[in-house]
Amino acid sequence: MQITFIPGNSVKVTHEQTVLQAALDNGLHIQHTCNGNGTCGTCKVRILGDEGQPLTEKEQQILSEHEIKMGYRLACQVLCTDNMEIHPQH
Ligand code: FES
Repeated sequence: MQITFIPGNSVKVTHEQTVLQAALDNGLHIQHTCNGNGTCGTCKVRILGDEGQPLTEKEQQILSEHEIKMGYRLACQVLCTDNMEIHPQH
């Protein structure tokens, strides 16, 4: 299965990997100040095609309502699913 980091890096991933792990394993940079503990918010990315994975408790604490509406997630909290598209935060 594969996911795409916009602007165009498609990488092979497994269901057990978080989006942050997938990025780091493939040499792609996503900020991750708390090392994936879900507390810093620096790994925020916009994700399309996450197949309705519910927000984790940590995401609900860190993301604003507006960010949630816009599709932002914490890369360290979301598991990879096929054909996901990851957009960097602007
Ligand atoms: S790495 Fe800190 S919240 Fe994801």
